[in-house]
Amino acid sequence: MNFLCSYFAICLTLLVTLGYVYVKRKYSYWQRHKIGFIEPKFPFGNLRVIRRTEHLSQRLARFYIERKHDAPMLGIYFMLSPILLITDLELIRHIFIKDFQYFRNRGIFYNEKHDPLSAHLFNVDYEKWRPLRSKLTPTFTSGKMKFMFGTIVAVADEFVACLNRSIQIDSEMEVNEWLGRFTTDVIGTCAFGIECNSLKDPQAKFREMGRKVFDQPKLNTFERMLIMSCKSLAKLLRICTHHKDVTDFFLNIVNETIEYRENNNVQRNDFMSLLIELKNAKNDTDRLTINEIAAQAFVFFLAGFETTSTTLTYCLYELALDKHKHIQDKARQEIVTVLDKHNGNLTYEAINEMTYIDQIINETLRKHPPASNLARMATSNYKLPNSNYTVPEGMMVIIPVYGIHHDPEIYENPEKFDPNRFTPEQIQQRPSCTFLPFGEGPRNCIGLRFGMLQARIGLVKLLQNFEFSTCTRTQIPIKYSPKKLVLSPENGVWLKITGVKN
Ligand code: HEM
Ligand SMILES: *[C@@H]1O[C@H](CO)[C@@H](O)[C@H](O)[C@H]1NC(C)=O
Ligand SMILES: *[C@@H]1O[C@H](CO)[C@@H](O)[C@H](O)[C@H]1NC(C)=O
Ligand SMILES: *[C@@H]1O[C@H](CO)[C@@H](O)[C@H](O)[C@H]1NC(C)=O
Ligand SMILES: *[C@@H]1O[C@H](CO)[C@@H](O)[C@H](O)[C@H]1NC(C)=O
Ligand SMILES: *[C@@H]1O[C@H](CO)[C@@H](O)[C@H](O)[C@H]1NC(C)=O
Ligand SMILES: *[C@@H]1O[C@H](CO)[C@@H](O)[C@H](O)[C@H]1NC(C)=O
Repeated sequence: MNFLCSYFAICLTLLVTLGYVYVKRKYSYWQRHKIGFIEPKFPFGNLRVIRRTEHLSQRLARFYIERKHDAPMLGIYFMLSPILLITDLELIRHIFIKDFQYFRNRGIFYNEKHDPLSAHLFNVDYEKWRPLRSKLTPTFTSGKMKFMFGTIVAVADEFVACLNRSIQIDSEMEVNEWLGRFTTDVIGTCAFGIECNSLKDPQAKFREMGRKVFDQPKLNTFERMLIMSCKSLAKLLRICTHHKDVTDFFLNIVNETIEYRENNNVQRNDFMSLLIELKNAKNDTDRLTINEIAAQAFVFFLAGFETTSTTLTYCLYELALDKHKHIQDKARQEIVTVLDKHNGNLTYEAINEMTYIDQIINETLRKHPPASNLARMATSNYKLPNSNYTVPEGMMVIIPVYGIHHDPEIYENPEKFDPNRFTPEQIQQRPSCTFLPFGEGPRNCIGLRFGMLQARIGLVKLLQNFEFSTCTRTQIPIKYSPKKLVLSPENGVWLKITGVKN
């Protein structure tokens, strides 16, 4: 008995010691490579996974601001893995554009066989990404945007009518939820070619699925750590990143839509008809399967609705503040002036003439970027310019977008909301890679044009018909939710909405 006890004690001590040495060794990586770093704490390193008190991007922004003058990069740890935080604009330009060939992936876990929706453009690795991106790029040209313009305007008109009915009952409302319904309907209509009617019916299936994807993550903390730190094991365990009902819903809807359109010879001005063209491509190598189409339509939905609706939410919040009343008035004045020129018709050309609206949206994207940090994975060893350090294949690098957008050396007085930062003269004075809401380089946001168009139409229609101001329930200053991936307001945004007085 005694013998057994001491035997276990020795084993335990040995294990603990070994574990300690292992962790110590892991956490000495940056020191050994003579790269400035931040002291990690076991087990999370420098980035907490649970019980965060601030958004990840705000923490990275602090690291960036504090250490950017020391070196072009800073070593941090996620769990036991070393990650490189890039703090120099020139090096960021290298990674995004000039040396893209070394940083082709995001390093996100996906599993095409067991979780078909996860194999979409945002996630997939280079070999699959390259042909897919070139097939999908023609879907987003300005010609195609003009094509879809009328569809978006029709959804926006519906939105205005709904909102108008609602404010007759109560003029104070939470706008994030409303804008989420608007962008859900736009993407549902344009990507899936169905009218999802979440505007009329708040419980609509599409909206429910969209909320589920963002608000109820499928994976628990352990599974999330596993897919981030041990992808091959996660694949072996057949971990799926989407709920079964979400997967079934989207696969079915795409299947039904395709069947319906092919049987009834339906042609529409939307993403789905362009995707169907790819399904039937003459050339084998160009062809997409139904599952591939579903995954791409799904990512358009995923990447398109939450980013755009939070952008519009922040935009209305800023315009509603008392101190920004003059900005709201000036925007409305521009809309009136341009529309007068176009006989009151909101056309594609008219929208393109509203430059102040564009400046307001860009300033919103600067101050509150929905995608507030960006990542790339080294796809082969990369020797950093002007340094003796080589980034090893497989290492993640992070670009602190929120930090750059709030850097007082780039944007003077960064907490101030000032659309004049986006006049052509001001833009020209800033170096490249200082405005990154859509990322940069060959792997930037493919939906940039569509996202901007949708945001502009939404904002124009809203300002044309309503006035926005704060109310007692408005949280000032706005607080970000520490948990969500997309930078989102903690408790929504409550505003007072009234019809415009003519
Ligand atoms: C205001 C709206 C939007 C914002 C702020 C936004 C932002 C971003 C960002 C930051 C990235 C990563 C870029 C990088 O890593 O360099 C991205 C990628 C992507 N976005 Fe968007 N996006 C928006 C709207 C949309 C829309 C409307 C769609 C589709 C209809 C879309 C589809 C995608 C796709 C497919 C990717 C992955 C591209 C690739 O890896 O090749 N986005 N977006
Ligand atoms: C909103 O509703 C009111 C009252 O029903 C109506 O007078 C007004 O024209 C409507 N405004 C819009 C933009 O539909
Ligand atoms: C849709 O699903 C059904 C049943 O699973 C299948 O028979 C059919 O071929 C699918 N449609 C298309 C267009 O693939
Ligand atoms: C299919 O496309 C590939 C690459 O675009 C090309 O090399 C090949 O010749 C094409 N095949 C046919 C049958 O057109
Ligand atoms: C608005 O545009 C449409 C189509 O572009 C045109 O048919 C209509 O006459 C225009 N209305 C006005 C008032 O100019
Ligand atoms: C706003 O940002 C978008 C995306 O970077 C760009 O295409 C557009 O020209 C910008 N507009 C202004 C007025 O800065
Ligand atoms: C790289 O290493 C060499 C030799 O050890 C040293 O002379 C040089 O200063 C180092 N360069 C940088 C940028 O640290």
